Amino acid sequence: MKLVITGGCGFLGRLIAEQAIKRGDDVTLFDIATPPDGLGALDGHVKVTVGDIADAALVHDLMSGADAVVHLASMVSAGAEADFDAAMRINLDGGRIILEAARANGPQTKVLFTSSLAIFGSAAMPAYVDGMTRPVPQNTYGMTKAVMEILINDMSRKGYLDGRVARLPTIIVRPGKPNTAASSFASGVIREPLMGDECQLPVARDMSIMVGGYRTCVAGLMALLDAPASAFSDDRVVNLPNLTTSVDAMISTTQTIAARRGITLGPITDTPDETVRAIVGSWPTGMDASRALALGCSADVSLDAIIETFIDDYV
Ligand SMILES: NC(=O)c1ccc[n+]([C@@H]2O[C@H](COP(=O)([O-])OP(=O)(O)OC[C@H]3O[C@@H](n4cnc5c(N)ncnc54)[C@H](O)[C@@H]3O)[C@@H](O)[C@H]2O)c1
Repeated sequence: MKLVITGGCGFLGRLIAEQAIKRGDDVTLFDIATPPDGLGALDGHVKVTVGDIADAALVHDLMSGADAVVHLASMVSAGAEADFDAAMRINLDGGRIILEAARANGPQTKVLFTSSLAIFGSAAMPAYVDGMTRPVPQNTYGMTKAVMEILINDMSRKGYLDGRVARLPTIIVRPGKPNTAASSFASGVIREPLMGDECQLPVARDMSIMVGGYRTCVAGLMALLDAPASAFSDDRVVNLPNLTTSVDAMISTTQTIAARRGITLGPITDTPDETVRAIVGSWPTGMDASRALALGCSADVSLDAIIETFIDDYV
């Protein structure tokens, strides 16, 4: 399969590329920037195109002859909240451009888009949401994701493309540097101490949050990419499996594992940040994922297993 991954040099893009290469896909990563430390194991196994997702001519060229695109290029939550106009340009104009390029490439073109639990919000929202809970996003990032969900459903209904949308919980543990996601503390509170560094924690320790492990997430995304179009019926949007946990639980689980493995942890300093608290605090803390499970996605076993995997892979 000829697979394009937009935002392909980021956290999830590189992990998806690894899986796609293993099964013999011809992979092109499209990104505005390449990682300063290179692509590691992907080097020599993928094509790389550097460019802006809002560059229509370049994106149409990129999509020509592709069987599928995983569309990840995006401004993320805190970044989008800080710059509405840039979020509109990258997330919505860029999103529409990739969808039109897929349409021009032919109706068989698969488009897998990563949405987010940030589409949910409002004080009236139930803490546990399902596929029929109305999205009332409380930040610009969530709004752009919700608009893309509706557009992909409609372009699939029209037969212009074969869309699939995964709503992700916060995926942990992101290696390397944090991005501008408001939820990046969920990785930082585990990663920084394990690396012996200080974590500045912007939210209260009793805050609940929905998370997923990166391996389970990527396996789920591949399953959604491979599922037959008919399996989605008239709704292409599915909630990915997730675990509800708390910051306290992430800290104590990391401490237990570190003690078991003889790792000396760096400190955690409470550094409240009202913007981060407001964005993350508007999200639901549980999400029904039964459709994703029926489509071949699987769920993480435990927080413990997610952290152990990160240590094995990166520490
Ligand atoms: N990781 C998570 O916890 C999570 C949760 C929910 C949704 N998502 C969504 O999944 C996708 C991937 O997430 P990630 O964690 O890998 O993010 P990331 O920030 O690591 O990667 C995003 C990539 O998009 C690229 N990009 C940004 N603007 C661009 C532009 N104008 N043109 C081309 N490329 C551009 C960035 O350079 C980056 O490499 C994003 O759309 C994100 O919103 C992620």
